[in-house]
Amino acid sequence: MTARLVPAGLVLAALAAWAGVALAQPKPPGESCVACHLEIGDERLVKPVKAFEGDIHKAKGFGCVACHGGDARAAGMEAMDPAKGYIGKPGRRQTIQVCGRCHSDARFMKQYNPSLRVDQVTEYATSVHGRRLRELDDPKVATCANCHAVHAIKPKSDPAASIHPLRVAETCGACHANATYMAGYKIPTDQLEKYRRSVHWKTMSVKGDLSAPTCNSCHGNHGAAPPGISWVGNVCGQCHAVMAELFAKSVHARVFTQMGAPGCATCHNNHDIQPASVEMVGLGDRAICAQCHAADDKGGQTATEMRALIDSLRREHAKASALLERAEHAGMEVSQARFELNGANDAIVKARAAVHAFTLEAVKKEADAGLAISAKAHARGERAFAELRFRRNGLAVSLAIIVVLIAGLVFKIRQIERRPKSRNAG
Ligand code: HEC
Ligand code: HEC
Ligand code: HEC
Ligand code: HEC
Ligand code: HEC
Ligand code: HEC
Ligand code: HEC
Ligand code: HEC
Ligand code: HEC
Repeated sequence: MTARLVPAGLVLAALAAWAGVALAQPKPPGESCVACHLEIGDERLVKPVKAFEGDIHKAKGFGCVACHGGDARAAGMEAMDPAKGYIGKPGRRQTIQVCGRCHSDARFMKQYNPSLRVDQVTEYATSVHGRRLRELDDPKVATCANCHAVHAIKPKSDPAASIHPLRVAETCGACHANATYMAGYKIPTDQLEKYRRSVHWKTMSVKGDLSAPTCNSCHGNHGAAPPGISWVGNVCGQCHAVMAELFAKSVHARVFTQMGAPGCATCHNNHDIQPASVEMVGLGDRAICAQCHAADDKGGQTATEMRALIDSLRREHAKASALLERAEHAGMEVSQARFELNGANDAIVKARAAVHAFTLEAVKKEADAGLAISAKAHARGERAFAELRFRRNGLAVSLAIIVVLIAGLVFKIRQIERRPKSRNAG
């Protein structure tokens, strides 16, 4: 219970009277709140009314009273009588209670959507946002209203929602990329800019693959906290399970923890993650290993050997693939061999992933399998060309025979043609 912002009992007691009215009755048609606010025309009062037209709560039959309290049937200012439960504009801490009143109530929420989570308030309380709000009354951290665009709240499946995967980065960036707003905090404000350069954002925004991560995939929806050194690997491992498993058992997992280095992010960065390439392995200019290893240490030697293995695998695969392609163009039947060569391609993928075990054996195991497949495919390609040569030679011989036969025939025909002519003439 201590994790909660306010003991649940207290919230319930304080809100019981109003809850009884608000929860039991969906919005009556034609709220006085809406009519009067529109009539007054003050931008601050009108904006919530207009935005609310597209809000999920409106769609579910709730009105202003659901969050602000008051009496929507009273036409005058008495609609906003605190005696009728009116709370005005909720303060930041109060907002958590206002939303939590329904969203933490499993029984209530089940009536609408049994699959919806009801842990947002408790999760939020564990986040840096929630802790700073509770402990320091920090006026700048995110509350439910900030991330969810209060009055225009939409489910995440709605492309216009502030929490739609394609829009989350912008929503978090509204504060985190605003250097003026974040001045006074000791954290960088480059996360959005870097994220926008990453393979993850490109996969999501260009390829439309919404399974790529955005801010909340790595930081949690409501538990927003820096992943922390000890569990960065777990964050990435949600999606990159093979690498995470290999890495966890590797020598690096142990030494990086001792060094205070953040697991995967040590080599890949956190926000600015770029597509991987074999150039990252080894001790070359673009090799990551070279940041910590040199040619005369064991890690450096292993890095160079790993790279040589992957390179030779790629070379042999490419060679076999090119040969089979030429054979196919020449009209030879090599489709089975081309199919089998896919196995070598899989081996390349596996060998590159196996880098994360950081032992030569792991890479060698995959590379050997791939090299064997490539060699077999290459042999098949060579056989196909040998066959082709044999057929071509056979063809040449039969052509020669045919030419000789035709020549003989022509000669014979000429002879026959000449004979009767000479007889007639004579
Ligand atoms: C007769 C007109 C009228 C009616 C009816 C009315 N309001 Fe208001 N409301 C106002 C005016 C005027 C203000 C601005 C008062 C101020 O700034 O102090 C206001 C301000 C507010 C504010 C902002 C308060 C703040 O602290 O900044 C909220 C929230 C609000 N109204 C909600 C409601 C709700 C909910 C209802 C219906 C139950 C409602 N209003 C009905 C006229 C009305
Ligand atoms: C889902 C809950 C919810 C509903 C429904 C809701 N509001 Fe609000 N409203 C809030 C919260 C939370 C705030 C405080 C926002 C903030 O902290 O910036 C707020 C703020 C306001 C303000 C103050 C705006 C300002 O800039 O100072 C007004 C006015 C207001 N609401 C009017 C309304 C009216 C009118 C309706 C119905 C059409 C309505 N609200 C429906 C939650 C709600
Ligand atoms: C009166 C009860 C009530 C209050 C107060 C309330 N909500 Fe809701 N909210 C609901 C209900 C009911 C739904 C519809 C759930 C559904 O059918 O999926 C909903 C839906 C949502 C959704 C969409 C969920 C989804 O993905 O389907 C979000 C986000 C949300 N509310 C956020 C908030 C926030 C933020 C606040 C406070 C500013 C708030 N709610 C206040 C009852 C409430
Ligand atoms: C730091 C931003 C942030 C804050 C603060 C925040 N939310 Fe969310 N919320 C999100 C995101 C992002 C999602 C979408 C999750 C997803 O894609 O699955 C979400 C999803 C939801 C949903 C849909 C169901 C779910 O849990 O996935 C509800 C309901 C909700 N939030 C309510 C709240 C309430 C209530 C609060 C305040 C206690 C709150 N949120 C605070 C960002 C936030
Ligand atoms: C309303 C502004 C605002 C929004 C929106 C917001 N944040 Fe924050 N966030 C802050 C502030 C202020 C801090 C406190 C900075 C600090 O920790 O010193 C913070 C802290 C954090 C931290 C902890 C940083 C650290 O190392 O201490 C993380 C992680 C974080 N936010 C992630 C997110 C994510 C992810 C989203 C979107 C889903 C988001 N925030 C939306 C204002 C915001
Ligand atoms: C692929 C996962 C991932 C994504 C996506 C991601 N982050 Fe991070 N974020 C991290 C990791 C890992 C750290 C650093 C943890 C450490 O060093 O302890 C971090 C650190 C942070 C911090 C702490 C300050 C800092 O820069 O070190 C903030 C704030 C933050 N991220 C906000 C965001 C925002 C906003 C977005 C979206 C624009 C985002 N993150 C997207 C993984 C991610
Ligand atoms: C010591 C440095 C290092 C660490 C730590 C590391 N990686 Fe890698 N990672 C690499 C290198 C080098 C490559 C390039 C391999 C290649 O493309 O041949 C790579 C490639 C990848 C790829 C692309 C794989 C592919 O098939 O091209 C993914 C995904 C990946 N890493 C995820 C992770 C995850 C998740 C973690 C943490 C569990 C992690 N990495 C930790 C160095 C590292
Ligand atoms: C929500 C799922 C998800 C999370 C979490 C995630 N990724 Fe990714 N990652 C993807 C997807 C999807 C792609 C693009 C498709 C692909 O190439 O696998 C990708 C691509 C990559 C690539 C480029 C792969 C390549 O083939 O070039 C690297 C490297 C990478 N991620 C590393 C990380 C690291 C490090 C983390 C943690 C800080 C992380 N990812 C967190 C889903 C995720
Ligand atoms: C951030 C620094 C860092 C990076 C980057 C890094 N390593 Fe290491 N590595 C270490 C440390 C520290 C050790 C343990 C001390 C040692 O043996 O040198 C280690 C150990 C190793 C070992 C075990 C050596 C032994 O003694 O058995 C291998 C193999 C290895 N690394 C390979 C690699 C490869 C391959 C890469 C690039 C993909 C790489 N490392 C990138 C820091 C790093």
